[in-house]
Amino acid sequence: MIKNIKDLRYRVLGVVVICVLQFSCQNKTNSDTENSSIDYVTETVGDVDFGKTKMSDYTPEIRENMNQLYEDKFGLFVHFGPYAQLAGEWEGKPGAAEWIMRRSFIPVTEYEKEAASKFKPEKFNAKEWVDIAENAGMKFIVLTAKHHDGFAMYKSKHPYNLYDFAGFNRDIFKELAEECKERDMKLGFYYSQDQDWHEKGGAGNDWDFDSVIKPADEFDAYFREKAVMQIKELTTNYDDIFMVWFDTPFQITDTQSQLMMDTVKENQPGALVNARLGNGYGHFDVSIDNGTTPSVSKATWLPDLKVPWQTHESVTKNGWGYTNRGAELDRSDDYSDFIYSLCRIIGNGGVYLLNVAPRPDGTIPESQVNSINAIGDWLKVNGEAIYGADPSPLKFPPYAITSKPGKVYLHVQDLKDNQVELKGVLSKVNKAYVLADFSKRALDFNQKDETINVTIPNELKQPRVTVVVLEIADEEAKVIDETLQQKTDGRIALPVSKCEFSIRRISYDYDKQVTHRWGENVKQGLIWTVNVKEPGTFKIISEDSGNDGFTYTLSTSDDSVILNSKGVIGTLTKKEQEGHIKIEKAGVHKLTVYPKVPASKATKGSYEFKGLELIPIEK
Ligand code: GLC
Repeated sequence: MIKNIKDLRYRVLGVVVICVLQFSCQNKTNSDTENSSIDYVTETVGDVDFGKTKMSDYTPEIRENMNQLYEDKFGLFVHFGPYAQLAGEWEGKPGAAEWIMRRSFIPVTEYEKEAASKFKPEKFNAKEWVDIAENAGMKFIVLTAKHHDGFAMYKSKHPYNLYDFAGFNRDIFKELAEECKERDMKLGFYYSQDQDWHEKGGAGNDWDFDSVIKPADEFDAYFREKAVMQIKELTTNYDDIFMVWFDTPFQITDTQSQLMMDTVKENQPGALVNARLGNGYGHFDVSIDNGTTPSVSKATWLPDLKVPWQTHESVTKNGWGYTNRGAELDRSDDYSDFIYSLCRIIGNGGVYLLNVAPRPDGTIPESQVNSINAIGDWLKVNGEAIYGADPSPLKFPPYAITSKPGKVYLHVQDLKDNQVELKGVLSKVNKAYVLADFSKRALDFNQKDETINVTIPNELKQPRVTVVVLEIADEEAKVIDETLQQKTDGRIALPVSKCEFSIRRISYDYDKQVTHRWGENVKQGLIWTVNVKEPGTFKIISEDSGNDGFTYTLSTSDDSVILNSKGVIGTLTKKEQEGHIKIEKAGVHKLTVYPKVPASKATKGSYEFKGLELIPIEK
């Protein structure tokens, strides 16, 4: 079962490429019914700019909310719209969740008839939703105000909305906003600014209209008349918007992204905008769906402000919206994984947005509530190690680690042995105890050089994730130098698990350990910092999957070589590359790999990368 969630993540990530291909090939098959995504995540430039959003854009209001987000760590994502009505089934065949309109090529008129006009969430109860988020220890809610199907979930001037079109005489967004306000729950909304399958000018629908990407003038008309207009409504009609979560920037231009950014700012100066607005705009970055980074990432931190990135995942299987196959499943076997995801993301410097998919009547299935409650129960005891916590002091933590002044928290999943080991922290440990143990009974531990071993008695082992607190003699833990070292036989290992990454699109595959899935952004590279004692020329062994359409460049400051992912699609294989690479001088070097072309431009399949090994060539 645990394997299933890992598989799911793997498949969900895989669909990124499939989806891009699906668009570019205009291939109207319905074979892939999984969740899909376009994973544009903008780059981070320099130390102070976050894409095109400058430090000066971090106004006092934005800073306050950014600090709040850093403190809060955990929010509820809700994918709710007319797709729920179809429950992942079209014409008797299984289809996608919130992508069903596109995946099953449902004509606008049919979708209007079968999904949108029948959609009446009679049992929607804002209080229940907020209760659910609150019990789970979540501090904010982000609801889909309009997804790619173009349907607005609030009373909008555009007639294609829940109130007017479906004739459901309640504004559920307003009800939720009012409840949140009373309850100290912050509220944000998701808005698909670019794809709108209902409109001729919106991106994405090429079964009713001519193409996926629309002529610039048509798109601009859609963008201003619907998208900007609705963002104005959402940011003026409802108070205190905490976050605006844009998605899938296909064809949005720089000017359009800027306009959207300005519109949000004008009406809600404190609202945090995510980087999927496109073109480098946004206050915080989001990962690829379910993605994370192998190392602690502070790439977007400003000198005086911690700017976290966000990972979003779903407690459902088969996408983000409701389906009759994936939204009602008992996920109790996966509770430990959900909790550990939270720990891992916070430990690497991010925040976590966890999705639920309500039924068409507006209720959230019990199985989903149970999944997030399991996290809530764990947080009630272990919240100190999460809320407001800083990431791991080690750049490459061996498991999830968080920290606070004078404390390091070790998060150990499904603890079986009685020993917890940590290598790399040099600060003197004064005391170790289990966070869930209210008496803080001092545990036996051993600290020698850079290794600490803590003994956990059986009775203190916790179900799912045990947090061991190390009280240390320093405010901030001192750690070993984590620069990668050339091996004594001259080899240099460059695994993805030890890379750094300024754009958080890394993909973890739990079965194959840490791998990276190449995406669309050729500026998105992997970086290793290596201490080279014996320079020279090296042959290169790569471990990856793909075909020969996909190439990437390995560079040092002295040299660069093009590598080829030629191999078996879907199976990681090791092979010697044709070219060699030169490192001329001893010392600390940055080695990078960058894709030559966007993954979708290479013929077919997905391109996964586990790492390189450089082997010195005998002189
Ligand atoms: C994606 C998908 C979308 C989903 C989102 C969730 O980009 O297109 O369906 O809403 O990711 O994060």
